[in-house]
Amino acid sequence: MSNWSDILTHLGESRDNYFGAIAPPIIQSSNFAFDTVSNFRQAFKNELGSNLYTRGNNPTVDILRKKLAALEKTEDALVFSSGSAAIAAAIIGNVKTGDHIICVQKPYGWTFKLISKFLVRFGVSYTFIDGTDISNIEEAIQPNTTVLMLESPNSLTFELQDLKACAQLAKRHNIVSIIDNSYCSPLYQNPVDFGIDIVVHSGSKYLNGHSDVIFGALCGSTSMIQKIFHSEYMTLGAIISPNDASLVIRGLRTLPLRLERSQETTLKLVDYFEQHPKVDYVLYPWAKSFPQYELGQEQMRGAGGLFSVNFKADSIEQMERYSDALADIFLMAVSWGGYESLQIPTCVFYNLHPDETPPLPFTFVRYYIGLEDADFLIDRIDKALKLL
Ligand SMILES: Cc1ncc(COP(=O)(O)O)c(C=O)c1O
Repeated sequence: MSNWSDILTHLGESRDNYFGAIAPPIIQSSNFAFDTVSNFRQAFKNELGSNLYTRGNNPTVDILRKKLAALEKTEDALVFSSGSAAIAAAIIGNVKTGDHIICVQKPYGWTFKLISKFLVRFGVSYTFIDGTDISNIEEAIQPNTTVLMLESPNSLTFELQDLKACAQLAKRHNIVSIIDNSYCSPLYQNPVDFGIDIVVHSGSKYLNGHSDVIFGALCGSTSMIQKIFHSEYMTLGAIISPNDASLVIRGLRTLPLRLERSQETTLKLVDYFEQHPKVDYVLYPWAKSFPQYELGQEQMRGAGGLFSVNFKADSIEQMERYSDALADIFLMAVSWGGYESLQIPTCVFYNLHPDETPPLPFTFVRYYIGLEDADFLIDRIDKALKLL
C-alpha cells in the first residue's frame, strides 16, 4: 500500500502560510510582486519553482502539481487545461521535423488526430500498431523514431501493452515512452514502476471525479518537466485556472473511496451481464474472461468502473430502444470518472457520417459505473434488457 493518505490529505499544503486554513486558498492572481530586484531576478531564473506569473506557476496549482507527481511517483508534474493539451505537450515536446512516432492503433481520438493529421504538417511521420504484441512495436522502429505512445488499457476495448517490455525496448533505442494512464488513474497503475518515461492523464475523469472540471496532467522527470515547461507549456499556455485547481484538490481527497466503490459495483454488474442470455461478451480487464487478464493482474492494481458489453440484438432500433430506456439512470454521455453512471451505445455512430462504417458493431455499449448502489443499477438494466 502506498502513502495515498498523506499525499491526498497533506502533501504540498503549507497551512502555516495561510492562517492554518485546512482548505487551501484559491490564489486568484495573475501575477506576483517582489520586494527586491534580487528576489525578482531569482524568480526569472527559476520560473517553475517560483510564483512569478500564473501562466507559469501559481500557489494553488503548485499544490496540485506536487500531489500529482507524488501519486505517479515521478519527480515533477505539470497541470494543463485539458488531458488533450497534456498529451499534445508530451508528444510535441519530443519530436522535430523528420522524426517518427509509434503509437498504439486505437488511442484516444484526439491523440490519433494529433499524430495523423496535425504533426504530419510539420514533417513528423507515424506508424500505428497493435500494441498487444511487443514484436509489432519492435518491427515498427525506425532510426528516426523518437516517441512511443501507449495507452494501456484504452478506454473503449481496453487492449493492454506489456509496459515493462515496452519501456525496455524504448530505452534500448533511445525512444521516449509516453503513456495515457487515464483508465487506471495513478491508484491502479504506476507506469514509471515499469520504466515508462512520461505519464499523462485526462484528469477530467477520476482525478477530479465530479464531472465539473476539464484538466490534464503530465508527470515525469525533473529534466523532462523543465524541458516541456520552457517550451510547450509556456508557449501554448494551456494552463488550469487556480479555481479549477482548487476543485481538483477537493476531488482528489476522495479518489481512493470513489475508485474502490466504482470498481466494487462494476464487478457486480460485469458478473450480472456475463450471465445474461442476451449478452454476447463483456470486456473488462478485471474479469477473468478478459483476453489479457494475466497481464492486467501483473501491472495493474485495479480496473475501476469502465467496461463494455456486446449484446445479442438484431437491429439498431432495438439497441436504441434498450439504451433509451436506461437514459435516466445511465446518462448518455461521453467521458467517465464522475459520480454518475454513463453509457455510450455505439449505435449512436450509425447513420452519422454516411460514407464511414463505424469500427464497432451497433450492438456494443460502453458503460461507466458511478457511485450508485449496484442493486439500483442492476434492477433497471434487468427491466430494460427485456426490450432486446
Ligand atoms: C483516454 C483519454 N485520454 C485523453 C482524453 C482527453 O482528455 P480531456 O478531455 O481532459 O482533454 C480523454 C477524454 O475523453 C480520454 O478518454
